Amino acid sequence: RTAAVILAGGVGERIGLSIPKQLLKIAGKPIIEHTLAEFESCSEVDEIVVMMTEGYTDEIEKIAKKAGISKLSRVMTGGSSRNETTKKAIAALGESGDELKVLFHDAVRPLVSERIIVDCVTALDEYSAVDVAIPSADTIIVTENDCITAIPDRSKLRRGQTPQAFQLSTIRRAYEVASDDPDFKATDDCGVVLKYLPEVPIYVVHGDDHNMKVTEPVDIFIADKLFQLASHNAPRPSDDAAYRRLLEGKVLVVFGG
Ligand code: CTP
Repeated sequence: RTAAVILAGGVGERIGLSIPKQLLKIAGKPIIEHTLAEFESCSEVDEIVVMMTEGYTDEIEKIAKKAGISKLSRVMTGGSSRNETTKKAIAALGESGDELKVLFHDAVRPLVSERIIVDCVTALDEYSAVDVAIPSADTIIVTENDCITAIPDRSKLRRGQTPQAFQLSTIRRAYEVASDDPDFKATDDCGVVLKYLPEVPIYVVHGDDHNMKVTEPVDIFIADKLFQLASHNAPRPSDDAAYRRLLEGKVLVVFGG
């Protein structure tokens, strides 16, 4: 069995509006509704758990009911940090047994594709930890006091996305080991496995440029535009002829040709 945990316990400080950003509407629907619909329609996913910001769980029940999300098994309150939210979800999934495959996905990545979800679930047949990432177009620099201290080789760098997928027993064990560390510090779940279970290989599935995280106000505009494309589930843009034709069509519109 496979469970998708939608991490929606944040408040969206960087967007800075009065409601959590996962409830903002993009392309006519709350961001989290798009996310839920993608996992609902993927046949590899059996169960969906939503970890929501305190005070907004009813809102999720309402959205899911209206959107016909039949796989939603529970809505719970998230924790004080993303990792705390993950930990709460792991504890709640305890009853499901350790054979479970679990995918943790940012609620604010509404353009995740079925291809990415399926690739994660399939990779878990061979690996017990899986990340999703894309190459970096930008040069990544390391800084200290606003000055560069290193420029890592870009060909080895990837930008991490979600889902991050695990055998439940593996991610549970990683957090158990981490709980003994008084200096525990992490921002994602693969980072916890890498640090506390270094013997476990973490496979990387190809992500997609469209699978962006709505983080800053400008991202709302970009995500809205991406939803206007005919199919965000198209293969990676660079090798998809249909996507190219679509872009060419847009160029013609822009230049009036
Ligand atoms: N998240 C969570 N629990 C938290 C914090 C974050 O489940 N305590 C979730 C967010 O809801 C989001 C995902 O983790 O779907 C990615 O985090 P981020 O983009 O940083 O969201 P926020 O924490 O809401 O944003 P900000 O840092 O701007 O407040």
